[in-house]
Amino acid sequence: MSPNSSSSPFNLRPSSSDDSPPIDLPLKPIPGNYGLPFFGPIKDRLDYFYHQGTESFFRTRMQKHQSTVFRTNMPPGPFIASNPNVITLLDAISFPILFDNSKVEKLNVLDGTYMPSTAFTGGYRVCAFLDPSEPNHALLKRFFFSLLATRHDKFIPLFRNCLSELFINLEDQLSDKGKVYFNTPSDNMSFNFVFRLFCDQNPLDTSLKSNGPKLFDKWLFFQLAPLITLGLPKLFNFLEDLLLHTFPLPAFLVKSSYKKLYKAFYVSMASILDEAERLGIKRDEACHNLVFMAGFNAYGGMKTLFPALIKWVGLAGEKLHCQLRDEIRTVVRAEGGVTLSALDKMSLTKSVVYEALRIEPPVPFQYGKAKEDLVVHSHDAAFEIRKGEMIFGYQPFATKDPKIFEDSEKFVGHRFVGEGEKLLKYVYWSNGRENDNSTVDNKQCPGKDLVVLLSRVMLVELFLRYDTFTIEAGTLLLGSSATFTSLTKATSI
Ligand code: HEM
Repeated sequence: MSPNSSSSPFNLRPSSSDDSPPIDLPLKPIPGNYGLPFFGPIKDRLDYFYHQGTESFFRTRMQKHQSTVFRTNMPPGPFIASNPNVITLLDAISFPILFDNSKVEKLNVLDGTYMPSTAFTGGYRVCAFLDPSEPNHALLKRFFFSLLATRHDKFIPLFRNCLSELFINLEDQLSDKGKVYFNTPSDNMSFNFVFRLFCDQNPLDTSLKSNGPKLFDKWLFFQLAPLITLGLPKLFNFLEDLLLHTFPLPAFLVKSSYKKLYKAFYVSMASILDEAERLGIKRDEACHNLVFMAGFNAYGGMKTLFPALIKWVGLAGEKLHCQLRDEIRTVVRAEGGVTLSALDKMSLTKSVVYEALRIEPPVPFQYGKAKEDLVVHSHDAAFEIRKGEMIFGYQPFATKDPKIFEDSEKFVGHRFVGEGEKLLKYVYWSNGRENDNSTVDNKQCPGKDLVVLLSRVMLVELFLRYDTFTIEAGTLLLGSSATFTSLTKATSI
């Protein structure tokens, strides 16, 4: 029987979601096909990286099939992924099936249809690759939650401290050169914060010196290369495709970089590793998990989030800057400082952070394998998915769904203020709804609340120091870049 058949040989159970669509939606076959074995996936890969680019890859297929749910292949395909066939979801209603762990399996799908060798992580499958049904998932995630809880009091003062160094550095470079690239100093600041938060030490005082961010960048690149294009001239496309997307890059080439990072974390985190052992986690397994959490999840996430936040707020212009600085300065004055309760009163600042996470989610891809035969709904139709099929959501389309968000492609700073808060359930950046909580039973980011907090603090620090700023925006391997062209010092506080 063809996978596109609409007659149902099995029980149809609608996916559970807050947005239960009418049950009488027509059951349609999923449009699209995978093409010939080997050639179909290669064609889709070339379209994705070189002929169309990511956005247009999805948009053209959505238009061709007149559907936000369709079949395609996702890169990398041969010979890295054994099965690149996916069912793509591009709307806000179907997407949350990926958060339903009773319906989808999240085993080894962090990077999509391929999994990098465990040689990148000391031979262990770290937490982010585990399905919640695996006992180790809850054990490790509980360990992360308790670690974050013990660091709670450091979040705001430590991050402000790191931001202060960042802005002084940016100002110096700006006055020297007339413009200053934000991403590299932002990465350094993020690494500095993460290391100091978890290891209680300035990385400069360890064997890493100032090399931590570069070591992590190299290690991240080797794992994510199958999803990256360097944007070289056309002439190099074939070579790049062969080198990055056809065979996995060998882990031994970054072994020494990883060892340096592992060693620095291992010696600085002795008491945390003692605690892990008490919880029943092997010392080295705990440390490999911590390095991954700090380097891939936290540092990797901040690497894309902070430049995107600065980019969108910068491009929004002086009117929004004026409203933000008024709100921030008024609340800080009234509350006597930058406290949790002060941050909670800044409704525009909070909304701006959610809007940046909506319009450019830092991790745009989510995958999950159907655990059973199921039905997924879009706005206007229902589709059968078979057990074992890979479901894939391209998040920027789901969080810019025009049927949910007015002016969905526009950055609207006050979108989530007041009544707008009701739309937070359609903000999915953390691999879950913004109004849901990360737990040991789901795959939502345990750093979710911390990430939102840090983003607010970044805006607060920015608008306590400056009245307005201008930037030039660009794109990078995975994400956005921002270059400050001016920073206008605060005239009143
Ligand atoms: C801007 C920063 C961050 C972003 C954008 C981000 C994003 C995400 C996303 C999208 C996932 C789900 C991945 C998936 O399964 O598809 C995730 C998982 C995870 N994140 Fe974060 N994260 C960030 C910061 C952090 C921080 C600070 C921590 C520190 C605790 C953290 C720890 C984790 C862990 C351990 C997982 C795996 C969760 C699980 O397996 O249940 N992340 N993160």
